[in-house]
Amino acid sequence: MSELHELLTLPKLPITKDYYIKTLQYYLSNGIPATYTLENVIEYNNTDTGRTLNLTTNTTPLHTLSRSISLLSNGYNTDYLKDGMLNIDTVDDQQATKLKMYPVTKRLSSGYEFNEEECQTILDIINLLFEYGAGWNFLDFENKTIGNLIYNEGIGSVTAVAASANNTILLNNIYLRFVEAGIATELLFRKVEEVEWIEEKEEKEIEREEEEEEEEEKTAAATEEQMNKNTNNLDIQEQNPADNQSVFLETPLEYTDSSLITKNNKDGVMMDWESDIMHIAAETVLSSAYQEANDKECINVLNIGFGMGIIDAFIENICASNNDKKKYRHYICEAHPDVIARFENDPIWSKNPNIILLKGRWQDTLNTILDQGDIFFDGIYYDTFSEHYNQDMLNDLYDVVVGLLKPKGVFSFFNGLGADNPFFYDVYKEIVVLDLQNYGLTCEYKLIKLDSSAENCKKNNGDIVWDGVKQSYFNCKYYYHPKISFM
Ligand SMILES: C[S@@+](CC[C@H](N)C(=O)[O-])C[C@H]1O[C@@H](n2cnc3c(N)ncnc32)[C@H](O)[C@@H]1O
Repeated sequence: MSELHELLTLPKLPITKDYYIKTLQYYLSNGIPATYTLENVIEYNNTDTGRTLNLTTNTTPLHTLSRSISLLSNGYNTDYLKDGMLNIDTVDDQQATKLKMYPVTKRLSSGYEFNEEECQTILDIINLLFEYGAGWNFLDFENKTIGNLIYNEGIGSVTAVAASANNTILLNNIYLRFVEAGIATELLFRKVEEVEWIEEKEEKEIEREEEEEEEEEKTAAATEEQMNKNTNNLDIQEQNPADNQSVFLETPLEYTDSSLITKNNKDGVMMDWESDIMHIAAETVLSSAYQEANDKECINVLNIGFGMGIIDAFIENICASNNDKKKYRHYICEAHPDVIARFENDPIWSKNPNIILLKGRWQDTLNTILDQGDIFFDGIYYDTFSEHYNQDMLNDLYDVVVGLLKPKGVFSFFNGLGADNPFFYDVYKEIVVLDLQNYGLTCEYKLIKLDSSAENCKKNNGDIVWDGVKQSYFNCKYYYHPKISFM
């Protein structure tokens, strides 16, 4: 039984501050955690049975509240819990326990209309839960985030207007509050990690000084033994080419008619449903290059990550058709040996006098260009694989971009950050804007609906089907295309 979750099914209407805020404050200040999940309730009730439930999801109080608001605004009752619990569907020793809602009944023919006081009270409830430490990124028993319960497909897909103006404003405000909480938590988390990292580093430095003499005595054999141990300790994640760049660069790749995938695991590295995105991206990174007609300076454009060469073909089209106006040099940076071989074996690429292949990781090749100090780019595009935002883009790439971009140059990248869930996608979109501001860069997004533009993807009821690819890396029906330039 969870009084907290029960309260957040909003059983008493209208929703008044007097009842809801007072009761919620009472529960939270008396020790019920704002992170207490419906799974915790079930596990607590199960302790005597000796059965293992294997519950892996986290249905938090904010999930309960969001689900209730969504049900009410669609005209349903919110009695989907019994005694503050979900319905345990099956308990099977082989499978994880399945949880579901108790059936809800229709309450009104149209949605329940929240009045202004109710809207404010709901936002106050949310703020109070965040104040008491509620999380923003948990997945509930239906694998939904709190954001998904308000707008299943993210704010970019919202076109329909809810039943009443109040409801529309309320849903928008709730969603934006959730996004804001996501941004704040992620930035805070990053700061905490930084502090821990610095402290760890300082401690390590002190330790190292103390141990310096001892270290000198260590034998080469001991070092080798340690290295072998480390290699054996690599866990599964570290060996996954999608997570670990050095593993990726040694993983054989395969080109199919419509994709580039890892040979053994069938992870999608690039797929041709992205063609329309690459087309727009090529236009974006060249958008400043032809602006000043009298400027005869040669155009330099850089693409990081050749993959299937889709964006490079678009870049070539644009540059070649303007060749009489301005000469160009098209740099392509690529690290994977199989992709480099594909490039080198195809005369369209390898014999093109305007194309310069930078072989190796961009972290090496571009730093060399930076050190030379004589090449600057009108446009830079970044789309690699097995790299991570905090580690690679934030820590290294942005520095390189700032150093290599001409004052009016344009930078863009394949924006799949958080795109396995529309809510995470909305949060990371804003984090990128804030990070770029610290580099004196401004980022504008263009919303591209993928339903109509992804002509080449196989579709099933509007969802992208990943033909021959094991795991999808993009689960949103729209794409935020970034255009980045100096402020
Ligand atoms: C998603 S594909 C690029 C697709 C490309 N935008 C297109 O239009 O076909 C990613 C490419 O980046 C390459 N790559 C990954 N890490 C790299 C790195 N650190 N430096 C250079 N290339 C890298 C991969 O080998 C792969 O060819």
